[in-house]
Amino acid sequence: KQSVVIAGGGSTYTASIVMLLIENQDKFPLRKLRLYDNDAQRQEPIGKACEIIVKERAPEVEFTYTTDPEEGFSDVDFVMAHIRVGGLPMREKDEKIPLKYGVVGQETCGPGGIAYGMRSIPDVIELIDYMEKYSPNAWMLNYSNPAAIVAEATRRLKPDSKIINICDMPVAIKKSLADILGLDSENDIVDRYYGLNHFGWWTEMYDKDGNDLMPQLKEHVKKYGYASANDDITNPLLAEASWNDTFVKAKDLYALDPDTLPNTYLKYYYYPDYVVEHANPNHTRANEVMEHREKNVFEECRRIVENGTAEDTSIVPGEHAEFIVQLASALAYNTNERMLLIVKNNGAISNLDPEYMVEVPCIVSKRGVEPLAMGPVPTFQKGLIEQQVSVERLVVDAYLEKSYQKLWQALTLSKIVPSASVAKELLDDLIEANKDYWPEL
Ligand code: G6P
Repeated sequence: KQSVVIAGGGSTYTASIVMLLIENQDKFPLRKLRLYDNDAQRQEPIGKACEIIVKERAPEVEFTYTTDPEEGFSDVDFVMAHIRVGGLPMREKDEKIPLKYGVVGQETCGPGGIAYGMRSIPDVIELIDYMEKYSPNAWMLNYSNPAAIVAEATRRLKPDSKIINICDMPVAIKKSLADILGLDSENDIVDRYYGLNHFGWWTEMYDKDGNDLMPQLKEHVKKYGYASANDDITNPLLAEASWNDTFVKAKDLYALDPDTLPNTYLKYYYYPDYVVEHANPNHTRANEVMEHREKNVFEECRRIVENGTAEDTSIVPGEHAEFIVQLASALAYNTNERMLLIVKNNGAISNLDPEYMVEVPCIVSKRGVEPLAMGPVPTFQKGLIEQQVSVERLVVDAYLEKSYQKLWQALTLSKIVPSASVAKELLDDLIEANKDYWPEL
């Protein structure tokens, strides 16, 4: 049986992940489940509600929540890390500051992602240090954002650590595609994919019998993107208007390169003008999340605590986190799962630097992760990837060297920032907004 700590206990996703973990004990049995957060006040309502959920549904599992690293990270097999440094109020700034300059405001792409990356690096590294101090044999499964910058930082600062970086977006897209095809699960789709995190392309998809799914999918995506034809919105992500727009917009991404199927995040790089035109600079995704998901989750957790029971709770097992259970059980029970992960290239994409952190299919077993060879990428993708990966590397350089110049270069190189002068104005604003988090440049 496994002992798990969820780092980022106060996240709006935590209660649904706890629910998912206790319901998946046939695949991934638990002995201990812990929440860890450095914000006691935020974690408390979620921790108390989860305590009740676990007591009612899996009393055999020992559950605690804590802000003490030693308590949080001792005797642990897996750290599931999904922290958000600065919380949603800083996400709001990441999104709104760029929009002031007519630039895409997004939490992982462009200036917002760069700002967030500078905040995330030290805290993710701190979690690795805690894990290595208190449970040196544990694995960290990290899906803290911005995953690309975090992955590059961990490669440089913690090259020998047992950390695997993963993202849910490819899984969410494949869930939609499985629905479109009438398949039971995204796991029925075997794929070939290359790129960076939030910056990749599928070249092949086939079913478990080896039948090519691409022709049918391309016909669909050409017309409807990743949304379903009859608006039968089954994907939980599609239940929200802004996500729906993103899934539909995939058809315009596909139009640019009909040889592949795109990751939806490419919309920020292919069509930044469209994104800015459709953004409200006074009300961004952070506001939507704070007004809805955050409010609902915290209200529901307080209600559970007040009533002393979670029997009638509206919190459901978080489907979006199934991949984390899959990854953990592949490592624990040697299932040889094929999963898209963010790993050191090492030749997986043959015409890119072996040191780049790329997102490709990997086989996961108890021995760790083995990337599969995806061959060379075409000129269009190669150009985009080289530019974007250089941005991510410059951010990590800037963090390590405390370099204003490198961060200015990173912003200038970002495809969605129009000029060095806009980059400089943005940088000065971001420095001011992040003064409690960034090193002094
Ligand atoms: C997707 C991405 C994540 C991101 C999330 C934000 O799942 O893959 O990297 O954190 O979207 O979703 P939200 O609902 O908070 O805007």
